[in-house]
Amino acid sequence: MSDLKSKIDLNKLPQHVAVIMDGNGRWAKQKGKLRVFGHRNGVKAVRETTEAAAELGVKYLTLYAFSTENWSRPQTEVNALMSLLIKTVRKELSTLTKNNIRLQAIGDLTKLPKDTYNALMEGIEKTKHHTRMTLVLALNYSAKWEILEASKKLAQAAKENNLQPEDINEATFSNALSTAGMPDPELLIRTSGEQRISNFLLWQIAYAELRFFPIFWPDFRKEHLYEAIVDFQNRERRFGKTSEQLT
Ligand code: IPE
Ligand code: IPE
Ligand code: MG
Repeated sequence: MSDLKSKIDLNKLPQHVAVIMDGNGRWAKQKGKLRVFGHRNGVKAVRETTEAAAELGVKYLTLYAFSTENWSRPQTEVNALMSLLIKTVRKELSTLTKNNIRLQAIGDLTKLPKDTYNALMEGIEKTKHHTRMTLVLALNYSAKWEILEASKKLAQAAKENNLQPEDINEATFSNALSTAGMPDPELLIRTSGEQRISNFLLWQIAYAELRFFPIFWPDFRKEHLYEAIVDFQNRERRFGKTSEQLT
């Protein structure tokens, strides 16, 4: 396990890694604790993953932290998650700065509670000039919502005669998404054993390699990220071609 890191080819790193951080609740339940205990312990995994990705030279790390569907959880859990977010963003700000990491967020952010929104904006503002890696938090995020928003934006531009329908292509559409300017994730990781996408980055992961871990998110460590990247680098990404065409 310990020399997994040395097996990584740094010239073939995924530029963008996306993670569905899942299993906090079950992790806590297994220990006879409340679900929020799992969320609190998930922060260590966030820190480890961020640090490991930045140290390797990954340029974008997107973490799915709260989906639009997650509002339907018990109000106490939603509240706990929202305040944990404030606390974490504030607490990690110095580490982000020390490590030259820029914070960004995608999702319908204006619908977040005001104090969560403000803490997030402060983190984004204070780290905006950092260049080593961009950490993107997906918050109140839904891929279908994002695709609809992009469609509305393009339709509006067409209505105002700033865009012709025939000019809508992959590039213009990508640019209308909240991930505009970011490379698409080449690697998508999900913990907890669940093997689904749960409304995450549907457009952007069209050709991503998927890696599912049977462990719960609070147990995710640097070694797991290394393992996922080594595995990623051993896969043949054919993009529709034949194996023979690749060599
Ligand atoms: C992931 O863990 C964190 C969020 C979705 C906010 P869960 O809270 O979904 O934990 P499980 O999947 O119920 O165990
Ligand atoms: C997906 O996890 C959302 C986040 C990790 C934030 P969920 O636990 O909400 O997804 P489902 O309900 O298992 O699909
Ligand atoms: Mg879950």
